Amino acid sequence: DKGNHRHFMAKEIYEQPEVIAHTFSHYLDLAAETVSLPELPFDLAQIQHISITACGTALYAGAVAEYWLERFARVPVSTDIASEFRYRETPLTPGGLTIVISQSGETADTLASLRYAKECGQKVLAVVNVPTSTIAREADAVLPILAGPEIGVASTKAFTCQLATLACLSVAIGRAKGLLSQDDEHRLVRAFMEVPRLMTEALKLSPEIEVLSRTLAKAQDVLYLGRGTNFPLALEGALKLKEISYIHAEGYAGGELKHGPIALIDETMPVVVIAPHDRIFDKTVSNMEEVAARGGKIILVTDPKGADEAHVDAVQKLILPEMPATVCPMVYSIPVQLIAYHTAVIMGTDVDQPRNLAKSVTVE
Ligand code: M6R
Repeated sequence: DKGNHRHFMAKEIYEQPEVIAHTFSHYLDLAAETVSLPELPFDLAQIQHISITACGTALYAGAVAEYWLERFARVPVSTDIASEFRYRETPLTPGGLTIVISQSGETADTLASLRYAKECGQKVLAVVNVPTSTIAREADAVLPILAGPEIGVASTKAFTCQLATLACLSVAIGRAKGLLSQDDEHRLVRAFMEVPRLMTEALKLSPEIEVLSRTLAKAQDVLYLGRGTNFPLALEGALKLKEISYIHAEGYAGGELKHGPIALIDETMPVVVIAPHDRIFDKTVSNMEEVAARGGKIILVTDPKGADEAHVDAVQKLILPEMPATVCPMVYSIPVQLIAYHTAVIMGTDVDQPRNLAKSVTVE
């Protein structure tokens, strides 16, 4: 049932404030302002190394989590495409944890990676949406993301609920290792509790994004840029646009612009810059100046401070409320998803069932 939405994807984008609140309520003690994970069959304090493996959007959720895990728990993390991880004979550190992430829990390459990690003696933790799936059954432990059924082929609410679950896990490991103080934990939990409200605010950008999408729909190629956790979000934005609008898009880390992709930029090239005003904002401003100098059309997704301080000609600034950096990838997902959605609707594609794609990729 699509409710009063035209597509499942729209319904699933719009239900995110409610759904993510549910996920957080499962992993947080709201009264105590602490993270409270279910009992796990391994000691979080003892984890020496983490390998994260998944495909597509789930992989990008893992790539965001890598930043959180390294920051909060100071544990080395490697994030890898499941189809590469499984065949590379990746050496895995004893005492390591492998995290597999999958909406369906049935993705062939992710499942094979799980089996490989187990053979290597790793503990395997599955972050899945479907609790009865093969991946959930075979893992040593499961953290369900509780997004409810996701029908649209393009993953939206599963992505943000994966992020919510992984954010809680990162804080729990940081606490277990004594690297986050109780105050840090309270502060982070309070920030997580604000996410549903911030997402509701972000959804209000929809009419603006719809207008902007008329320009994007005319583009041959679109570039997405971000730094830090906004880099995987840039990759996710590009994937989402390709997948449902069939417009070619690339995501890049801001710092990589000079190493090749800048050659693509001319007056016809829209560049979506995902840049809240964070500690590396200035670096992103230099990237935007480079884009602007070559006539690239900047679409800046930022906050009021970022909009104020970015003295570049942007064709559009999408302005979100100010928020703590840790919650940005969850909230900034909303405009990223809406950009792809509205552009695809204008292109007239089959948004929920894009060509050549399946919701669950059970063959490699
Ligand atoms: O079910 P999974 O999360 O394992 O699926 C992984 C990818 O196939 C999936 O995220 C795909 O990239 C989406 N269609 C992207 O929107």
